[in-house]
Amino acid sequence: MTAGGPQDERPAAPAAAAASSPDPGRPAAVEFAGVSKVYGAGTPREFVAIKDVSFAIPDLAGRGEFCSFLGPSGCGKSTVLRLVAGLGPQHPPTSGTVRVLGHEVVGPGADRGMVFQDYTSFDNRTVLDNVVFGLECRGVSRQQREAEGRDWIERVGLDPARDAEKYPHELSGGMRQRVAIARTLILRPRVILMDEPFGALDPATRLDMQDLLVRLWREVQATVLFVTHSVEEAVYLGDRVFLMDTTPGRIAEEIRLPTPAAPAREAQSEPWFNDQVTRIHQAIERIEAAAEPIPEP
Ligand SMILES: Nc1ncnc2c1ncn2[C@@H]1O[C@H](COP(=O)(O)OP(=O)(O)OP(=O)(O)O)[C@@H](O)[C@H]1O
Ligand SMILES: [Mg+2]
Repeated sequence: MTAGGPQDERPAAPAAAAASSPDPGRPAAVEFAGVSKVYGAGTPREFVAIKDVSFAIPDLAGRGEFCSFLGPSGCGKSTVLRLVAGLGPQHPPTSGTVRVLGHEVVGPGADRGMVFQDYTSFDNRTVLDNVVFGLECRGVSRQQREAEGRDWIERVGLDPARDAEKYPHELSGGMRQRVAIARTLILRPRVILMDEPFGALDPATRLDMQDLLVRLWREVQATVLFVTHSVEEAVYLGDRVFLMDTTPGRIAEEIRLPTPAAPAREAQSEPWFNDQVTRIHQAIERIEAAAEPIPEP
């Protein structure tokens, strides 16, 4: 990896961010050490999806980091996320090590939760039954899981009285994504993996969902790995942006950002926000200009 060092051009960040510097004795929330993934290795269809990817996201006490991944289609963003999730066929890596909270990833685990773009819900379950699915699997009593489920339905901005008994086909895309977020966060994962979760939403709903996510993220204090194609979304949400490049996929640059202090609509019209967006577009142009074919192993 050829990541640039963190850059210190942050405007005043909220106190919560200042209070949480990495503890050197604490294992990283997520760590990639020389990770490569070759699909179809040894066959004529062999393809190097990511090569020698290394990064570490510290496990900040009392506040997880929000990391966005930006990069062209096919650069390996979903591959990186699914390796963290321990989901095949991306897992296991062809070489290198993926660690979560100090432990090598050997498969999916309760410490990680994933939200996908395509509103993954069980069609035959109501909103409430979708939200509490994980608690059911953990053997939590019906009474307790329903109370927690209704609480989470409300926390993601749905109305428990009106929406709890609805089925996914009766919901809008934004509502379905709220259900997916509630279903993941109710399990209190330390690491939340989100693969273009708002990619299919209209711009206004997307801004509402960004605000919701920032609010919930502060509450649950988890580390978030968030894949997006939107530079604006990455700048608004991210403490840090990993810019990826393709063929083979790799981290090209790592950029530190200010923590959002204002709602999305407000923050995204402020001058510092536009400066950061421009800075990332310039970094993307730099990466594209420097791209040279790298010989495969
Ligand atoms: N199971 C697979 N078998 C073979 N090749 C794969 C497999 N999964 C992904 N790839 C290839 O690996 C590369 C990285 O894929 P990945 O899905 O991680 O990209 P991405 O950055 O998430 O792209 P997008 O932005 O389009 O979602 C792509 O070229 C893809 O075609
Ligand atoms: Mg993808």
